Amino acid sequence: MKFGLIGDQVSHSFSKDYFTAKFAASGLDNFSYELLSVPKIEHISDILRQDFFGLNVTKPYKSAVMQYLNQIDTDAFAIGAVNTLVRTDRFSWKGFNTDYIGFEQSLLTWVSIYDLPKKALILGSGGASKAVNHVLSGLGVEVGIVSSGDHGDYTYDNLTEDLVRSHHLIINTTPLGMVPKTAEYPPIPFNLLTSKHWVYDLVYNPANTLFLTLSQQAGARVKSGLEMLYLQADYAWSIWKSYGKF
Ligand SMILES: NC(=O)c1ccc[n+]([C@@H]2O[C@H](COP(=O)([O-])OP(=O)(O)OC[C@H]3O[C@@H](n4cnc5c(N)ncnc54)[C@H](OP(=O)(O)O)[C@@H]3O)[C@@H](O)[C@H]2O)c1
Repeated sequence: MKFGLIGDQVSHSFSKDYFTAKFAASGLDNFSYELLSVPKIEHISDILRQDFFGLNVTKPYKSAVMQYLNQIDTDAFAIGAVNTLVRTDRFSWKGFNTDYIGFEQSLLTWVSIYDLPKKALILGSGGASKAVNHVLSGLGVEVGIVSSGDHGDYTYDNLTEDLVRSHHLIINTTPLGMVPKTAEYPPIPFNLLTSKHWVYDLVYNPANTLFLTLSQQAGARVKSGLEMLYLQADYAWSIWKSYGKF
């Protein structure tokens, strides 16, 4: 069975190593995983016509790929992005979003539902932000989006003391801090963080970003996106296993 990852820059992929190890550990010798560098969205329909059984989707196609699918899981539809595709018959594909499952599981093993802050700030307004927003809204958390453009409720320049002091959950969904640009971080007023704050960074490489270090130094509890990365991949694997019956 053939699997793969669709994206524009897929040469350094966690997914290929992760799934290749899964195939080996499960004795699935005839399974393979390919990195599919797709320069233009129109090329996706050619890939869907090839003999792949499962595909992962990464930047920048998580939303754009939806138009080529025959079915979309209801949560993925609400989020407006998919990252896992499964072939449901010779001509049909279904899309899922496993990022939101990975984030939710990771969040709730870190913060108990009883301790979950009532208000959160999500930094960034892209695909991952929408998945995180879906989870938090479902858990009854009031969300404010912080954007470097005009896609949010706040900008980094107008994060007031009242705002930061009243939002005890802060989640970075921007790519700031990801290798190789590890000296970058979202410009929040770290001096306003306290021991009541929970700060989550979706960036997983490095596992300990400068954003988390600065937040921890200010007294906040911090969590890396590395666990989410494994959980979202595990969930993609469970979808493929259930549809493929292997
Ligand atoms: N741990 C995991 O399992 C996991 C899963 C999914 C994604 N991620 C990570 O999450 C990050 C975002 O992924 P994505 O798919 O949401 O990407 P995306 O769709 O490109 O969105 C990223 C958002 O970050 C903001 N941003 C981008 N560059 C910025 C800059 N220079 N300064 C400030 N804000 C900036 C933008 O929002 P504004 O224009 O509103 O500022 C942008 O919409 C990536 O690093 C990805 O690897 C991790």
